[in-house]
Amino acid sequence: MTHRSTWLMFAFLASIPTQAPAAETAPAADTVRYDGSTHIFTLSTPQVTYAFGVNERGELQSLYWGGHLNSDDPLPTAKSDTGSASFDPSTGSTPQEYPAWGSALYTEPALKVSFPDGNRDLVLHYLSHTINGSHVAVLLKDISRDVRVELRYDIDPDSGILARSAHIENHTSKPLSVQQAAAATWNLPAGNDYMLHSLSGRWAAEWHLDQRPVLPGQTVLESRRGSTSHQNNPWFALTPAGTGEDSGPVWFGALAWSGSWRITVEPDLRRRIRVTGGYNPFDFSYRLAPGESLDTPVFFAGYTPGGLGEASRLLHRFELTHVLPQAPQPRARPVLYNSWEATEFNVNEAGQMKLADMAARIGVERFVMDDGWFGARDNDHAGLGDWVVNPRKFPHGLQPLIAKVHDLGMDFGLWVEPEMVNPDSALYRKHPDWVLSFPGRPRTEGRNQLVLNLARQDVRDHLFHVLDDLLTQNDIAFLKWDYNRNWTEPGWSEQKPEDQQRVYVAYVHSLYWILQHLRERHPKLEIESCSGGGGRVDLGIMRLTDEVWTSDNTDPFDRLSIQDGFTYAYTPGVMMAWVTDSPNWVNQRSTSLEYRFLSSMQGSLGIGADLTRWSDQDFQTAKRLVTDYKSIRMTVQQGLLYRLISPRDGSPYSATQSVSSDGAQTVLFAFLHSSSMLYPYPRIHLKGLDPQARYRLRVLAGKPDENTPKEASGAYWMSDGIQLMLKGDFQAAAVVLDRT
Ligand code: DGJ
Repeated sequence: MTHRSTWLMFAFLASIPTQAPAAETAPAADTVRYDGSTHIFTLSTPQVTYAFGVNERGELQSLYWGGHLNSDDPLPTAKSDTGSASFDPSTGSTPQEYPAWGSALYTEPALKVSFPDGNRDLVLHYLSHTINGSHVAVLLKDISRDVRVELRYDIDPDSGILARSAHIENHTSKPLSVQQAAAATWNLPAGNDYMLHSLSGRWAAEWHLDQRPVLPGQTVLESRRGSTSHQNNPWFALTPAGTGEDSGPVWFGALAWSGSWRITVEPDLRRRIRVTGGYNPFDFSYRLAPGESLDTPVFFAGYTPGGLGEASRLLHRFELTHVLPQAPQPRARPVLYNSWEATEFNVNEAGQMKLADMAARIGVERFVMDDGWFGARDNDHAGLGDWVVNPRKFPHGLQPLIAKVHDLGMDFGLWVEPEMVNPDSALYRKHPDWVLSFPGRPRTEGRNQLVLNLARQDVRDHLFHVLDDLLTQNDIAFLKWDYNRNWTEPGWSEQKPEDQQRVYVAYVHSLYWILQHLRERHPKLEIESCSGGGGRVDLGIMRLTDEVWTSDNTDPFDRLSIQDGFTYAYTPGVMMAWVTDSPNWVNQRSTSLEYRFLSSMQGSLGIGADLTRWSDQDFQTAKRLVTDYKSIRMTVQQGLLYRLISPRDGSPYSATQSVSSDGAQTVLFAFLHSSSMLYPYPRIHLKGLDPQARYRLRVLAGKPDENTPKEASGAYWMSDGIQLMLKGDFQAAAVVLDRT
């Protein structure tokens, strides 16, 4: 899929304008083929082949998804499954690309509708198709009623990652209700030893990698919370027994949607795995009047024989080159300072200027003022919704602070939480009807705030104008866009009852619309997606934001496993990581400044400490490590990541290595939780180097064994490796190898 065609996929969300592509490459001539004699479609790249066909009944049947097949290799024929006894008729046991609930379907439907006459049976058969470059659109239609579904496919020639979505149209003369709509069903080969890998968590404890066998029955990954959530992230990987970090087949996918979502994983009666994902059907209903249509989000998925590490690297590259707003060449993340942990709500002009002075001394490039600058925001009980500068804290507005930050050579960023309102605010007093709620029912608060109903056009337009004014009147390079609670009572009482549940779709489209339009009006603006930490990270929001806040948990040791989990799905290039104070507020754990830096330098570096408490020595250490970080950040942020030793499951060690995309540099980070019994730190064998090339060692922190050569071949560093002399508790080392 070219950069442009990725954008076309996103453009299928009709209300979202597309952004002009930055570059385009022609897809390989044989990327997509249709064989008219066998009715088989193949999407192929040098690594991957994906095939489906029209069977004798007219169903669109999945045929193959795995390593590349040559065009003259035989594919399975598109022939329906025989079914099993009287209990499992053939329609349900045939692996369909997009099974609607009708006929004999007992597994998860991709689509379920209800007609006004009580009929709920929908059976989709092939009608026609179009092929355009790497893009395939297959039109399906119900066997008797004029309900049509266009399935959209695209394949990225570089990674073999597929993009799928569905466009559902009502051509009947009466309204119908869509009760369930997935972007895609992915069918995997049969197997009885699959493991499912997924990411779960909660506030300040996101990105836990869960691994469990796929057993009969459904495994449901979902958010019912109105947004992506900390609880589960819309990413999965499936592996047969024997697959590990470095080798073995992996099927993986990520849903590009920032609202309630669901991914269902289940084996069918032949032990083929079906993965169905899209809008969460819980409390879902979307009425389609005659002539109306509904677009699903895009579900991306890929295959690699190269293990979980390679699956992550493919996703990272895909995100950098196809998803992020600055794709295909996002600029390096600037080193930022953020005031939150230093001041909380207690911000004012003098205090922020002092912090800015200190941040500039250590090489910070972006100064971000967090919560507390607006309205009556002295704590989290008041002010959200009133995006006017607090005159007591900033008597001359934001201009003097911004000018000072610029004079210090940094750009300026600001925290906002536009989707929320405190009941104690001017906005809520004026528009109490603007929040998600059911009339006459309690309005459950979270952090003393309610959720504005962005699905309403007046709310959407108000937020856009407030933010547009803020950005027009002030030279703001960056918004940290926060979102600190989940939905409750998701009512939209201005709509007819049968249309109120559209809120699940319309809200997210409005959010995307605001972000897109702000970016268009302010082309230099960069945005961070934050939701009380990592509660809104997905490929949908990443299309419109340049980085994400990984977690409110800034304990550098907890962060090792949080960051490890994050990288299964998302690139370190967006993974913000701050150096904060010790002991850290999360665990009261004390660690050295160097250890804290090295933990944060595994991602996109920020500083969030109270600099007024730092010693001269701290400033010197920080300045040195910020300078070092700048010399390796493109490698860390946009290189190939190798998770050498996982910090999971109580491991006393962990290590990551990044190789720059041109292969000229590699960076190794190694951490020791606690040494015991005189055991040495494990010898580290590097990966992904050119065996013939020579690499010179540069030590950023820690100590290699005294026999370590200053320079050696890639073969040496990979085969003989490097011995780091780490001993004690919470120790860390970082070394760089530069190609000579
Ligand atoms: C939650 C964010 O995750 C924090 O970093 C901080 O911005 C606070 N909100 C501010 O209220």
